[in-house]
Parts: sequence; C-alpha cells; structure tokens
Amino acid sequence: DEKDGARVFDLRMREGEKEFRPGRRTATWGFDGDFLGPTLRAERGEKVRVRVRNELDEASSVHWHGMHLPARMDGGPHQMIEPGAEWTPRWTVDQPAATLWYHPHPHGRTERHVQRGLAGMFLVDDERSERLALPRTYGVDDLPVIVQDVKFDGAGFDHGHGLMRSVGFLGDRTMVNGTLDPYRVVRDERVRLRLLNASTARTYAFGFADGRDVALVGTDGGLLERPATLDRIRLSPGERAEIVVRMAPGERAVLRSFPQDGYGDAWQRRFAGGDDSFDVLQLRAADRLRPSPAIPSRLGELELPDARDAVRGRDFELRMSGINGRAMDMGRIDETVTRGTTEVWTVRNDNGMPHNFHVHDVQFRVVEVDGEAPPPELRGRKDTVFLPSGTTMRLALRFDGGPEFADPEVPFMYHCHLLYHEDGAMMGQFVVV
Ligand code: C2O
Ligand code: CU
Ligand code: CU
Repeated sequence: DEKDGARVFDLRMREGEKEFRPGRRTATWGFDGDFLGPTLRAERGEKVRVRVRNELDEASSVHWHGMHLPARMDGGPHQMIEPGAEWTPRWTVDQPAATLWYHPHPHGRTERHVQRGLAGMFLVDDERSERLALPRTYGVDDLPVIVQDVKFDGAGFDHGHGLMRSVGFLGDRTMVNGTLDPYRVVRDERVRLRLLNASTARTYAFGFADGRDVALVGTDGGLLERPATLDRIRLSPGERAEIVVRMAPGERAVLRSFPQDGYGDAWQRRFAGGDDSFDVLQLRAADRLRPSPAIPSRLGELELPDARDAVRGRDFELRMSGINGRAMDMGRIDETVTRGTTEVWTVRNDNGMPHNFHVHDVQFRVVEVDGEAPPPELRGRKDTVFLPSGTTMRLALRFDGGPEFADPEVPFMYHCHLLYHEDGAMMGQFVVV
C-alpha cells in the first residue's frame, strides 16, 4: 500500500465445494478458495492490513491465533463481521519468526465454522529466520501441514458428536491441507514440516511409523534456542510444532499419530480418541536428493518472560462447566492485567477429561508441569498447552505492547481450544489496561 507502506492481504470468506473423494462433492467454506485459506506471510516490523470480506450468509470473525496485536484487531467474538460486511484490522508485526494461524471465533459457533473449512496459516519471518540454515523454501523443503480429522456422511460432512463424545467432534480419518490420503514427493535431504493441529477436538501424538527421530526446531510462537531430538510430539487443538525430518533417497516415511496416555481411565481415553491411530502423511523421497546443510546447533535467543519478574499470580481451574466455575459471558470481564507487566498463571485440570488452555495476545513460558521442569517441546514460546486430567501448569506471561495495547473496553480471550468446550462455557475474558 502506498500510503502507509503496509502489506495488504485480501480474504474472502465464502461458500464452496470440494471433491475430497472422487466423484463426490462436499459443500465447504473457505477463505478465497473452496476449503481452508491461503498462507499469509509477513516480516517482523512490517505493517499489515487485512481486508476480510464476509460473503457467507452468517456472521463470523477472523482471529489471528498466536499474534501479538491490540485487542480490537484480534478477531475474537467482539469483532464480528456481518454477512456482506468487511473488516479491516491493521497492526505491526512485532514478534519473532513463527508459524501462526487464523480461524473464525464467533461465540458458540467456532467449532462448526472451523470444521467447514475456515482456517489458514500465517507465517512470520524475521532477520534471524531468513539467515538460518534450516529448510525454508516454502512448498519445496518447508511444508505447511494442517491436520484435521473429518467424517463424511454421504456427500456431506458429518459434524455429529456421536455417543459419549464429551470432547466434541472426532472424525474417523484425517486430512492434510484438505487432502485425504496425502503424500508428498520430497527432493531434499531435509524437510521442515510446520505441523498445525487445526482439528476441533482431537489431540495427536505425532511420530514416524519407523520410529526415527526428528529435530524439533520450533513451537507455537517461534524457534527454540536449540533443536531438540524427539521421536514423538503431542499437539492438542491449536498447537503448532516445526520439525525437521531427514530423508534417505527413494524411501517412504509415514508420519503417524499414535495412541496416547494421559486421558484418565481407559473409558475416557477411548472416548476422547486416545486409543486412535492414523497415518497422517506419507513422504516419498526421490531417488536422488539435494543435500541439505546440517541443522544449526543453536537457533537463536528465546524471547520468553521470566517468572521472577511476575507482579502477580492468578489461578485457573478448568471445568467443562466453565473456567473458575464461571461460564463464558460476553458481557463480563474476568481478569484485568496491567500493560508492561509479567504474571504467573497456574492452570489446573482435574476434570476427568482432557482440556487445553490458550491465551490470546501473548506467547508464554511454561514454567512447570506438575512441579517439574517442562519437557523440550514445552520449553519454547507457547500460546496453547495440553492439560490431560490431573495436570497443573505454571505459565509466565508478559503483557507487552505500546499504548495501543491498553484498552479497558475490548477484551482478549483465554479458553480451552477443544472448540466444543470453547463454544460452551470454557472461555473467559481479560483486558489489558
Ligand atoms: Cu485459536 Cu481463541 O483461538
Ligand atoms: Cu487465539
Ligand atoms: Cu476443554
């Protein structure tokens, strides 16, 4: 844009149709296209402006999940876009390189809007990320991997929750980037996968079928200080991980989601999907691979708040009936935080079923999980964390930003990102003043 030098994006929310299965067309929603949305990309320090047009016949919103920005640009349930209307949020990208995403956030209807296909990635780059010897050619050796579970009913989607589904909708198969049975031909020795769990309720325990290690290089809000070697990484709805996989010429490697522990009793585990296993994505290596540089042993400086700077603590008890015993109320501000301060939030799930916890506006540090230092996958910048029943986490959050971040009128949200729970009672509102 000439006037303010902003990078401008156009997003049209519209109805569509997609042939997920040969010969059968399914009614969908998408941003611009028929299903999901374009990958948006901007650099740290850049001004962005998004023109969002709602061409659906119901009101919705677009939330920038993981983005640090003023509350009135956040796209939560207070920034609804009526059918036929346009909304133009603008902000300056002021955070490290990361894999973020966007999706609707209409109160009570988020699960359905996301399931129909409204979701996309928003990548942030910075000077460091553009110099690092990590795979970074988008669509070549740096691949978005948006994972969703689905179920079909005849020609359409089946969004039903089924019997005993206290976590919400669980599909019986998975898609990557809106494709069933996905595979990808790989021509480089190392490939970066930007994993996004865009499912509404399902938690995945990702790993390769042959048990190979991968290098975890990034979490929700950016790159780690050093890569961590892992063979499994669990992502609950809304969480992201950047992993680098090493391929051998001619081989096939299957990214799988494995059965998981941590769901309470066997009954809960079964009905929350913890027993399920899916082949998520097959990587097919070409017979000759371009060599990739070794992964740097140091990725950079982690920008994370320090719990010792905290000026106050807050407690959050996760229950399906509401957080801290209160059901979400659009007209009630639950917490007021002071701009420029650090807080420690203690989040506890003793509800007998899995939940997770997402906070808008910030990337936080996981200080402790059940009194212990966090595992490698929780040592980076996070905006969403998984809490199986019986888990307590301490998080350090810093509410930074210029004067435009102080707004006593417009709240940010914190909530369970199992969207059925979010749509129900499990969300609260905080203002930064
Ligand atoms: Cu990804 Cu409040 O949401
Ligand atoms: Cu969010
Ligand atoms: Cu929940």
